[in-house]
Amino acid sequence: MDDFHYENGSLYCEDVRLRDVAAEFGTPVYVYSRGTFDRHLSEFRTAFADLDPQIRYAVKACGNVHLLREVSALGAGADVVSGGELYRALSAGIPAERVVFAGVGKTRREMAEAIEAGVGHFNVESAAELETLNAVAEEMGRTARAAIRVNPDVSGHDTPDKTTTGVRGNKFGVDLEDVPALFDRALGSIQLDGLHIHLGSPIYSAEPYAKALEKVLALASRLRESGSEIRSINIGGGFAAQYQTGLGPNLDEYAATIVPILAPFVAGGGQVLIEPGRAVAANAGVLLTEILFLKEAGNRHVAIVDAGMSSFMRTAVYDAFHFIWPIEPDEDHVPPRRAEHLELDGLRTIDVAGPVCESSDYLGRSRDLPRLASGEVLCVFGAGAYGMAMASHYNSMPRPPEVLIDGGEAQLIRRRETYSDLVEAEFSLAELSEQLAEVANPPA
Ligand code: LLP
Repeated sequence: MDDFHYENGSLYCEDVRLRDVAAEFGTPVYVYSRGTFDRHLSEFRTAFADLDPQIRYAVKACGNVHLLREVSALGAGADVVSGGELYRALSAGIPAERVVFAGVGKTRREMAEAIEAGVGHFNVESAAELETLNAVAEEMGRTARAAIRVNPDVSGHDTPDKTTTGVRGNKFGVDLEDVPALFDRALGSIQLDGLHIHLGSPIYSAEPYAKALEKVLALASRLRESGSEIRSINIGGGFAAQYQTGLGPNLDEYAATIVPILAPFVAGGGQVLIEPGRAVAANAGVLLTEILFLKEAGNRHVAIVDAGMSSFMRTAVYDAFHFIWPIEPDEDHVPPRRAEHLELDGLRTIDVAGPVCESSDYLGRSRDLPRLASGEVLCVFGAGAYGMAMASHYNSMPRPPEVLIDGGEAQLIRRRETYSDLVEAEFSLAELSEQLAEVANPPA
């Protein structure tokens, strides 16, 4: 479960009324529940307790340093895919040895930064990357610890093509049959002792993990027979968040399948790593957006809101479903649950569209919603993962602020961007301030 709920007709996050958050910080605004985030993260450790796994939170899902500090405080680590994400993780105080550095295209500079910091593991995705990592480590007089990301050629049934990664022919990982040659190569500055998979996101059942892990364990014994040591297996992320109901993921179901498969490996001294992102963050965050205008287009009702695809991209890019509802509905329209269709009287079908100049800029189409009014605030649920993380400046829209709720407290954890943030990297700072001064005081 998450900590977003209606009480006396108002939507709350923990003990804070979201109307007050919108009034204080403006819209659009991302709001996260600290309690939900922490609980979802801890649930991984509990569900998979028999494997005593190392949890490596996927920073790409939602990388605000204040949330990463929670990750650190809970004893978890980070899965990063760029120098920027590594910087975030370290800035938040996550110890470098609790960081795994994944990603199909690491630069030499990023490799050097990660070696310098002392990251726990590199997840390596090709023979060429392994050679380069070895060369960089050698130049630095250091040893880099690495795992090979295997492409097990297994997909999730309902995983969208755009977020499927573990199938032969896509750019991720090393094909199973090519892995032994990498272990045989014995590069002097690499300690190669792990296998990694990530099948895609989301993976809606445990079965694809089971299929992939059987292949990975068979590979591991083959590698051991030929003299390599396999100390860790990293099962990646991909655990689903239930966008329709807002319920937390049923991790116990995944664990019931995955734990017995990996238990013998752990009993033999092996270490298991897990890299969840979405299952932790998605239902720990929402996006609040204000209705600017109501209009008719052809025979459709449309609500134009102030958050579009530059603030939240998932609906435009993946056709993802996110439950949308007013934060202060009248008493007949308090939603009993979050679902695509609710059996409530007096609903009207409407499209919820953003302000961006793109035909795909919708937060939801054909939604059955109560009668709406301009100025009203809507909540986009399940927006904590791949929400702010994928926000852009498209149409030169400053990105929204982020607010963290902890019990009855609302703390701004990222300020709203300004117009000068938009152009900062385009002017030197001196030129920019001159320019802005001119705009503020145009020549007479
Ligand atoms: N590990 C690796 C190597 C990954 O590539 C990913 C996600 C994760 C872990 C975390 O997966 P999760 O637990 O969050 O499913 N933008 C898309 C999702 C892209 C996922 C990319 N990789 C979306 O909004 O659906």
